[in-house]
Amino acid sequence: MPSLSDQHIVLGITGGIAAYKSAELVRRLVDHGAEVQVVMTDAAKAFIAPLTLQALSGRPVRDALLDPSAESGMGHIEIARWADRLVVAPASANFIARLAGGMASDLLATVCLATSAPIALAPAMNQGMWSKSATQRNIATLKADGITMLGPNSGDQACGDVGPGRMVEPAEIINHLTISEKIPVLDGTSVMITAGPTWEALDPVRVLSNHSSGKMGYAVAAAAVAAGAAVTLVSGPTALDPPPGIQYRPVRSAEEMLAAVEQDISTCDVFIGVAAVADYRPARSETSKIKKCADSITLELVRTPDILARVAQQVKRPFTVGFAAETDQAIANAREKLHNKGLDLIAVNQVNETNNPFGSEENHLVLISQSDEIDLGRNSKAVLAEQLISEIAHRYHDQHST
Ligand code: PMT
Repeated sequence: MPSLSDQHIVLGITGGIAAYKSAELVRRLVDHGAEVQVVMTDAAKAFIAPLTLQALSGRPVRDALLDPSAESGMGHIEIARWADRLVVAPASANFIARLAGGMASDLLATVCLATSAPIALAPAMNQGMWSKSATQRNIATLKADGITMLGPNSGDQACGDVGPGRMVEPAEIINHLTISEKIPVLDGTSVMITAGPTWEALDPVRVLSNHSSGKMGYAVAAAAVAAGAAVTLVSGPTALDPPPGIQYRPVRSAEEMLAAVEQDISTCDVFIGVAAVADYRPARSETSKIKKCADSITLELVRTPDILARVAQQVKRPFTVGFAAETDQAIANAREKLHNKGLDLIAVNQVNETNNPFGSEENHLVLISQSDEIDLGRNSKAVLAEQLISEIAHRYHDQHST
């Protein structure tokens, strides 16, 4: 388990239904060896009892700015100095607005203002509140001030809406906190990652594509950067912001993806093909929009280049890792791909009723090499990406130490 031992973490909790996740977050932080001081706003106490958090953290919860008994011991300045890291989860729209305005109107906002420790916020609110320009202005201000935003995720909300505003899971927050504590296991290496879908044009307005969102590939890119690698991300069209600190190469079709990969692959030490590349493209892409005349039309499809296989076939090839999304006989089919494409490692994600990796926040991965098989289990894509990068680093270094 990644360690946060000796880390002093101040966990701020503000008012929102996602506060129920904070109990799990405290438990996980303590399991990782952190010392946790919970600071709650008044609104947070309407959603979760301070006693629960005191029992889990082993420390009395702090909630009052003007508390004479606390000022003689752990006052607001002491908490600000004690903190190695400060995380606010959930961070409500109201709290975000107060922080962006530099207000010191309660203990938590005052500690945030006073501390020199890095601050991360996990916003949680209704999707309409999140999308409002006032909230987005406040988020931009806080980011410009150097505060890290963890999420929010998108999906079903407690109020019945669907959209962005769900608090990220405790595992993702732990992942963020532990990543900066890690040994840079890929320091000095160059890693190329493909991500997202490809778009194969039928005409100027239509494409053949798939449901890949890019989340898995972007998480792998972020984990590789955190592990110290110089990262190139070759990405099909997605709605995601590229992770900071990478070389970003946006592409659309499989042909464009191949060209971008070939441009830099000779200097790469590791290649990870996470992209859901179309296996076929229309034989012709019409220059004008196809008209709706006939009752049925037949499309002729031709094979696209297999980018992963081409990388693996190079004489001086990088450590080559593939992904396989399979609906049936996942392990057997992935083993066949490992063998046929000549890969060092393949990450299999089964596509079925309990696990659909396309577009989701979580996944279940099994890693297969010629000599072993490791089930990483089900987790957020961020955590799985970190585990994958750690496995790749060990194997890459083993290969190069002989
Ligand atoms: O993007 P998300 O929504 O987060 O979803 C993640 C994911 C499901 C897309 C990802 O986890 C995944 O499984 N990616 C590979 C999906 C896939 O297309 O598998 P495949 O079995 O068709 O291809 C096997 C491997 O060959 C993949 O590494 C693929 O990148 C590569 N390939 C495939 C075809 C092709 N023409 N060129 C390739 O390089």
